This record gives sequence, structure tokens and C-alpha cells, in this order.
Amino acid sequence: MGIRRILTADEPVLREKTKKVSHFDASLHRLLDDLVDTMRDAPGIGLAANQVGVPLRVAVIELEEKVTELVNPQVVRTSGEVLDWEGCLSIPGFVAEVKRAARVTVKAQDRHGKEFRVKGGELLARALQHEIDHLNGALYIDYLESLEELVRVGEHPSGVEEEQAAGI
Ligand code: NI
Repeated sequence: MGIRRILTADEPVLREKTKKVSHFDASLHRLLDDLVDTMRDAPGIGLAANQVGVPLRVAVIELEEKVTELVNPQVVRTSGEVLDWEGCLSIPGFVAEVKRAARVTVKAQDRHGKEFRVKGGELLARALQHEIDHLNGALYIDYLESLEELVRVGEHPSGVEEEQAAGI
């Protein structure tokens, strides 16, 4: 188990654009394993490498017991629009309503450098957009007109799923 410390929104590394991975080596594999361990420990449904202080284009998502490892991910297609609740492990204890594309297709590489595509709607679409934002130095609070739109977890209206409140 490799549980790393999750940085909070005030840390500068969360605001930097991360670097493309070019070596698919043991240290990348260790990073991916640690991201999954750290995400599960939190617990959350997604985690980007810069959230643990590593400025590389690497993120993980776990939904419905399926782990998706994303290396150098990029959105290649979006459609629709949906407003829903969203949280982030780097902004613990809060959620807000954020508008996102309803469906996305993302191109990425796996831990060995092999290219693949992942298509998602609903929470997977939201998690993919949220993680790629992290890798570009963006946080969901950037979409809010005011930080007063943040709602404390537990005080949000019904309809927000537990896993969304947990953080992406
Ligand atoms: Ni996040």
C-alpha cells in the first residue's frame, strides 16, 4: 500500500499544467498504484497525480468497481450539457453544482503506453472532465461565480449521490 498525502486547493502544484509522460517505467507504475490506494483510502472516485504533488499527466478513476488508469489523457469529443453536484478530494467537505458536458470521449495511454479510448456519460463523464481539468491546473471552483456556491457536505439538498460528495 502506498498512500500519499492529498494536497489541498491552496497548494501551487494544483494550479500548474502537468507534464506529458514519456517513460512508461516502474516509477509510473508505482505512481498509478499509489494513486489508486490513496483514492480508495480517502475515499474518492478519482485522483490526479498533481493532487499528490507529482506534476505529470496521470490520473485514476474508480467507478462501479472498475479502475481506469489514464496516462496523457485528452478529451477528443463532448456532447450535451448537464448541471450536477461535484466534489473534489483537494477541497474536502464541500460540493457545488457544476455544469459539464453530458458525454465525453477521452483518448489516453495505459501504463504500458498503449493508446485507448474511454467513452462515458453521467458520473464517469464528470470524473473524466474533472481529472483532466486537474492536469491542466484547473479546479471545479473555477466554474463558480462565487465561492458562496459551495455547500458543506451533509447540508446539500437531496439528490447528490454519496460518491459524488466524496470527491473526484
Ligand atoms: Ni478533484
